Amino acid sequence: MATLAQARTRTETARASGFLRSRLGSFLAVFPLAVWTVNHLWNNLAAFRGASEWEAAVTQYPHPIAQLATAVVVLLPLVLHSVWGIGRLLTSRPNNVKYTYYGNLKYMLQRLTAVGVLLFLGAHLWLAMLQPRFTQGGPEPFSDIAHEMHFHLPTLVVYLLGTLGVAYHLANGLGSFAMGWGVVTSQRALNKLDWIVIPLFLILLAMAWGAIYALYRAGAA
Ligand code: HEM
Repeated sequence: MATLAQARTRTETARASGFLRSRLGSFLAVFPLAVWTVNHLWNNLAAFRGASEWEAAVTQYPHPIAQLATAVVVLLPLVLHSVWGIGRLLTSRPNNVKYTYYGNLKYMLQRLTAVGVLLFLGAHLWLAMLQPRFTQGGPEPFSDIAHEMHFHLPTLVVYLLGTLGVAYHLANGLGSFAMGWGVVTSQRALNKLDWIVIPLFLILLAMAWGAIYALYRAGAA
């Protein structure tokens, strides 16, 4: 029979590993996921400069190793963060009916956009990254994605809504990351956090919708 001391040690160990998992899920959301996402949106703005500029910025890699490294550095943290996120979704419930505070609304939207982003990234990774490589032996050409964006309404709507979800999830997520890691602690600083989160949300949204607009416009040609 386990002694009281052994039982206590087991509880402490479980608590410590739960804490580490939670820290890792949170950390990976920012390094490298958020950093890479901002860079990816920026690269997509090359759509304003035409096909070859966009393809060089978004779909071409200087070396196959660089492509493999990107896949590992981005996709592995995405999977780990998603597993962590799904765990959080299953173990916490929004309480917006009981508490109608602004903070509760942001918490509920963070979880709602998590589900939307999960579905969007599943479709985006398959259709824009994997399928063209499996079926055409290479990345999706600019002309194909621009044509889809202009003439296939579901593609346009999914990209507009999916990137809206990503912009909110990332901007608000950086706010809760700053609280969770003790970057922001005082009530005064917490109140001011929205002055960073809201402009960041608008900038990310402008970058994403700007790139979509450039692809849509190019698709008409
Ligand atoms: C572009 C991809 C993604 C980025 C950049 C991203 C970024 C972030 C950031 C920065 C946070 C805040 C972390 C913290 O509070 O310490 C967060 C939270 C969260 N993410 Fe993501 N995320 C992404 C995709 C996903 C996906 C696919 C899911 C799938 C379910 C997900 C689920 C969650 C959940 C549930 C939370 C809230 C956790 C909590 O506060 O309890 N995320 N995300």
